[in-house]
Amino acid sequence: MTTVKTRNEIRFILNSEDVALGDVAPSETLLDFLRLKRTLRGTKEGCAEGDCGACTVLVGRLSGGKLVYESVNACIRFMGSLDGCHVVTVEHLRGENGNLHPVQQAMVDFHGSQCGFCTPGFVMSLYGLWMKSPEPSDAEIEKALQGNLCRCTGYEAIMRAARAISDYGKVARDPLLAERRAVTARLEALKDGSRVEIGAGKSRLVVPADVDDLAAVLEAEPTATVVAGSTDVGLWVTKHMREIAPAVFIASIDGLHGMSEDKGVITIGAGVTYTEAFATLAKRIPALGPLFDRLGGEQVRNMGTIGGNIANGSPIGDTPPPLIALGATLTLRKGTVRRTISLQDFFIAYGKQDRAPGEFVEAVHVPVPAKGENFAVYKVTKRRDEDITATLGAFWLTLAKDGTVAEVRIAYGGMAATPKRASAVEAALVGKPWTEATVEAAMAKYAEDFTPLTDMRATAEYRALAARNLLLRFYMETTGTKAPLQVSRYEAA
Ligand SMILES: Cc1cc2nc3c(=O)[nH]c(=O)nc-3n(C[C@H](O)[C@H](O)[C@H](O)COP(=O)(O)OP(=O)(O)OC[C@H]3O[C@@H](n4cnc5c(N)ncnc54)[C@H](O)[C@@H]3O)c2cc1C
Ligand code: FES
Ligand code: FES
Repeated sequence: MTTVKTRNEIRFILNSEDVALGDVAPSETLLDFLRLKRTLRGTKEGCAEGDCGACTVLVGRLSGGKLVYESVNACIRFMGSLDGCHVVTVEHLRGENGNLHPVQQAMVDFHGSQCGFCTPGFVMSLYGLWMKSPEPSDAEIEKALQGNLCRCTGYEAIMRAARAISDYGKVARDPLLAERRAVTARLEALKDGSRVEIGAGKSRLVVPADVDDLAAVLEAEPTATVVAGSTDVGLWVTKHMREIAPAVFIASIDGLHGMSEDKGVITIGAGVTYTEAFATLAKRIPALGPLFDRLGGEQVRNMGTIGGNIANGSPIGDTPPPLIALGATLTLRKGTVRRTISLQDFFIAYGKQDRAPGEFVEAVHVPVPAKGENFAVYKVTKRRDEDITATLGAFWLTLAKDGTVAEVRIAYGGMAATPKRASAVEAALVGKPWTEATVEAAMAKYAEDFTPLTDMRATAEYRALAARNLLLRFYMETTGTKAPLQVSRYEAA
């Protein structure tokens, strides 16, 4: 057995300063650390649940040797996930010759702020966007700001400011980009291959050195809380005051961030974020692309992982139904033993997944639809942006040469206690001609598959009707109807 080096402090860069902390609780959030321990109070607390963006900061991390900065919600980001990262707060922004930073100056000149509470969050989200896309389109700006709420200025002034940032300075001269090389070298120096172990009992926090070390840690402590992007676990702490110790932080494990494709199957490591995953998935499986913009806001997409979206077993997680419809499989690992199961079999009952104590999700394998295979996914919510699913339907279908349904997989979220296949509906379709009459007959079978609930997102009747109609929509799309099937953007008059 190889022995792993350990250290008892997390190390990261905060703005310009190298920080090493040995006194960190597993549930300590970055927001509390900034405001309470460092008096960096430019970063605000609005909702403490990842929705409003007032707490937005940038986190820089090495991804494939490249330094990337991403907007994240400091309110649900734990300190334990920052080992080896560069945290950039609004206090770090500066322009040339002591002036305001271009993002800040644009916000001032275009009246993008009134009470100012949301403003640092908007500034940081726009800063993250500007570094990636100095001349952003309106769609890019709207996407970058989906996770930022303002209750007094109104968004049009902020949009105008966002369009004008590059008039106030060039990205190449931005201090963060100019210092990229030096920061990369400092972050590389922090990666010393050690496991971080801090505290004991209710104070215990572990950052494994690599995937093998994660397996060893979880075998030894099978009841530990695995924390990936913390877009769920963060709320257990901030909203439900739950204890999460011992907590094992996996976001910085490089070996879980891999994505590869072999023989038409894409393998996604459990630590791959939505942002990382969809960069590839949207190209290889275009029908998945539009789902990305409908998943949380930018900060949540930069933190949340596909592995966490599966492992949490939520009936309203957005990626399981499309992955089930695509025929995905899951690799689970306990110690050195791996097993691969069909994703649909992972979900047993509400809150119960096929995962043994000490076992973790290592990767998901997603078949890319071949030519002639039809695939679609539709998410239904009350609000277009940053809203949780009322119902979501995913459809995969192949037709025989004679136009009958050869194979079909239909999976839903929000319709049962787990993500679930519509087996009776599928059975009503297989072998029948792919016609409206067949689809209408199959629509009558939904009641055999699902008894949805009424809650604040939708009534049971609404869910049942919407779910049936999604099958009809899929039929119309696959048969090339000219009828408009989606309103994706409202233009101001
Ligand atoms: C503002 C906001 C908006 C959101 N919007 C959406 C949305 O539109 N659609 C949607 O589907 N979800 C949404 N979510 C929920 C959340 O983003 C997802 O469920 C997310 O995928 C969870 O992943 P994570 O990496 O953050 O997991 P974490 O919070 O770190 O973990 C979630 C659970 O999975 C376990 N876990 C994580 N990784 C592993 C692993 N590799 N092996 C074993 N167990 C593991 C954890 O122990 C925990 O039980 C939203 C959340 C917030 C805060
Ligand atoms: S305080 Fe609202 S997203 Fe963090
Ligand atoms: S300026 Fe007041 S909330 Fe945005």
